[in-house]
Amino acid sequence: MEGGTPTMRVLVVGAGLMGGLHAKAVKHSDTATLCGVVDLDIARVGVVAADLGAPGFTDLSRALAELKPDVAIIATPDSAHRVPASMAIEAGISVLVEKPLATTVDDAMSMVELAERRRVGLMTAHLTRFYPRYLAVADAVESGDLGAPVMLTTSTWGPRGLGERVSATTNPLWHLAIHDIDTIQWLTGGVIAEVDGAQLIESASGAAAFAATGVLSTGAGFHLAAGWTLPEGAAPRWDLKVHGESGVAQAAWSSDGVAVYTPGRVDNPDCLAWPEARGSIQGALRAELDHFINSTVNDRPYAITTDEAVDAVRSAALLEKCSSIRRVS
Ligand SMILES: NC(=O)c1ccc[n+]([C@@H]2O[C@H](COP(=O)([O-])OP(=O)(O)OC[C@H]3O[C@@H](n4cnc5c(N)ncnc54)[C@H](O)[C@@H]3O)[C@@H](O)[C@H]2O)c1
Repeated sequence: MEGGTPTMRVLVVGAGLMGGLHAKAVKHSDTATLCGVVDLDIARVGVVAADLGAPGFTDLSRALAELKPDVAIIATPDSAHRVPASMAIEAGISVLVEKPLATTVDDAMSMVELAERRRVGLMTAHLTRFYPRYLAVADAVESGDLGAPVMLTTSTWGPRGLGERVSATTNPLWHLAIHDIDTIQWLTGGVIAEVDGAQLIESASGAAAFAATGVLSTGAGFHLAAGWTLPEGAAPRWDLKVHGESGVAQAAWSSDGVAVYTPGRVDNPDCLAWPEARGSIQGALRAELDHFINSTVNDRPYAITTDEAVDAVRSAALLEKCSSIRRVS
């Protein structure tokens, strides 16, 4: 503790897009210190470590033994969370694991059981829980003014370049629709109970999408759609609507109201998820990090429980099982 502010030594595992952002958020945080970065790819870890002035490792066991971090952030690909997360948990430290917790229920349960056995914290980074716009919708639902949710519609869209980077290890269901799944389950307190239709569409153009419709255990209907379809440079787009018995709450991300015009191009920078202001990461990613660190230090419950994270994995696995897969040439 320094001046009443807890500071924890954080090890970031996975130095790709998200690990790089987490490492940067930690680097500029008041509550955490970046003690090291790990990636199997020596070139990648070298770049992030050099940029942020922290030691880089390709061997996680060595990093855990030498650095003795207080907590770890696991930002490896969707299906590669269990091994590094379990190694960190076995070392006796709490972990923040990127979403989805895992891409199989067995992997998810094994991490949860291990964390319980070793008595350390395990939080899944469902970042949308820290979007003020989603929280405003959650507050409207919880107030009761909308009545019970009857139908939820959500969508999450990213650029095609995202698919180029991650499609070897994941698809739009596990990578993007997992946000929508967690959101509708969080907002209703239910889980996906019935699937009326689900489809995974892949196109030779590189665009890919997932869509599903069905019913939650509360009786509310849902329709969700997600994918990487936007042209490069376009800002992410999402949309959330909760139709209740007596009202509707909605939030959208079509632009954050900031536009930068340069010859031949208009940029709409992110001011919500992980905006960088004056060299420091702000927004939901910063709020998520502060929440994880403060809750771990003070032994307080995390905003996303392990049951909720496992339920998201279970529902995604159900949707995957019910999906028809189509390829568009
Ligand atoms: N919350 C969000 O909005 C959000 C956004 C993007 C990504 N993510 C999540 O973050 C995670 C990482 O995604 P990304 O886009 O950064 O992927 P990425 O492919 O850019 O990076 C993954 C990195 O992990 C490394 N890696 C793989 N296996 C490893 C291992 N066992 N040990 C150490 N390093 C290993 C790879 O070499 C790569 O550098 C995914 O789970 C993804 O769903 C979340």
